[in-house]
Amino acid sequence: MDIIVILDFGSQTSQLIARRVREAHVYCELFPYDTPAEQILALQPKGLILSGGPASIYQTGAPSIPDYVLESGLPILGICYGMQALTHALGGRVAASTHPEYGSAEIEVLTEDPLLPAGKQPVWMSHGDRIEIPPPGFHVSARSENSPIAAIGDNLHKRYGLQFHPEVHHTPGGGEILRTFAVDICDAQPEWTPESIVENSVEQVKAQIGDQLVIAGVSGGVDSSVAAALVQRAVGDQLTCIFVNPGLLRHGEAEAVVQAFDENLGARLIAIDATETFLNALSGVTDPEDKRRIIGEKFIRVFEAQANKVGQARFLVQGTIYPDVVESSAPDRRAASRIKTHHNVGGLPTDFDLELVEPLRFLFKDEVRAVGLALGLPESLVWRQPFPGPGLAVRCLGEITVERLKRLRVADKIVLDELQTAGLLRKKTAQAFAVLLPVQSVGVMGDQRTYAETVAVRAVTTDDFMTADWARLPLPVLARISNRIVNEVPGVNRVVYDITSKPPATIEWE
Ligand code: XMP
Repeated sequence: MDIIVILDFGSQTSQLIARRVREAHVYCELFPYDTPAEQILALQPKGLILSGGPASIYQTGAPSIPDYVLESGLPILGICYGMQALTHALGGRVAASTHPEYGSAEIEVLTEDPLLPAGKQPVWMSHGDRIEIPPPGFHVSARSENSPIAAIGDNLHKRYGLQFHPEVHHTPGGGEILRTFAVDICDAQPEWTPESIVENSVEQVKAQIGDQLVIAGVSGGVDSSVAAALVQRAVGDQLTCIFVNPGLLRHGEAEAVVQAFDENLGARLIAIDATETFLNALSGVTDPEDKRRIIGEKFIRVFEAQANKVGQARFLVQGTIYPDVVESSAPDRRAASRIKTHHNVGGLPTDFDLELVEPLRFLFKDEVRAVGLALGLPESLVWRQPFPGPGLAVRCLGEITVERLKRLRVADKIVLDELQTAGLLRKKTAQAFAVLLPVQSVGVMGDQRTYAETVAVRAVTTDDFMTADWARLPLPVLARISNRIVNEVPGVNRVVYDITSKPPATIEWE
């Protein structure tokens, strides 16, 4: 499959370049800018994209373009710092920080250009340095009010530079520019589709596993489910999926996992209902950290016991996805980090003597979802919201009992159902759930005094879950949720809506 290589000079938005190129169905990978030439050239890329970065080109130690990039004769697109580094390397002049520009701007395309459509378009600028004189052989293809040289090109050598960021949402035409570069200029075939991803991954997994046995933990989480489903497609019954139900899942989720894997996919599945084991271990425990520790330990033990029954498994499936891989190798973060293995099943055994199979290692989250659907996993599983490893334990504050969990599940289902009915899930709320508080207060129902618990409703908007804002849900929807909870959940007489952002709060209450 054709590939475009993106060399990462450390911009916060480098990953977005990769996502936009992939959205154009062209396969691409992101590498630190100083990755050895042999490694990049061995991939036989159809073109190279140089990302932005925080450095200034004349700064000592500023990253420069490796020699092979220019010697390769490949089409090149430099973005922001990438453009400046390209200009510098090819004999043009960059002016340091005289006209910094951050935010929206409008560019005007000056000539007929193979990369940029004619006319004006809004773009996002974020640069200190700017180009003063383009390198010999380059023409100025666009300008903006503050950047007389907003884009340059050398059509003969297929080398281009953009002062603005085509990868961000604030450049609405940016996806098309990246598609034009990849498909029209580099001639990369747009073959990266969910079906081709499945086909490729299946081949790779088959080659890795051969005729050995493999195990996968499935929790109902998106990544672990899609990873297991891919491996199942590749090696069928050599895979045993292990589903440990700790009794801490949301309403209907345990059944959904069994149905998806056992009934829909026909996977070999060991489903263990360990509710009693977990609830016994949690009995009387109220400290959130203690809850997490107990659940983590129990999980490993129960999983291990089941895994040992499978026989001589040599491989363990893990749902590591591309952002985790890229994050740990990005230039400015590399020193402190190593490749992170993600524990989607709430802490899988790390001391297992098993080789990892990571079929999602090169996929972004949206691609993981598309692959999941292509494999026949149900929408409810593929679009499942993030869910903490320790499950409802972190949403059932105070002591965890069968009765309180039941209360929480019913309230939580009401929240989800009402948001679903109002069309507010997915697009308007990244995560929404109920929290059961160990706070009792006085109420009145009919003519009776009540003294019962409180449910907090949490709904947030966020892109990355690192920061989040509370969702401005329509009041009638909140009213319906509140009404239904106090009417339908015995033991609850009060509903509050959490209007705290993160930070200072977190998304979960714990
Ligand atoms: P907080 O509460 O820290 O959560 O704002 C951020 C995001 O992470 C999820 N979360 C977890 N996910 N294991 C997970 O896989 C965990 O232990 C865990 N704790 C929190 C949380 O639901 C939110 O999406």
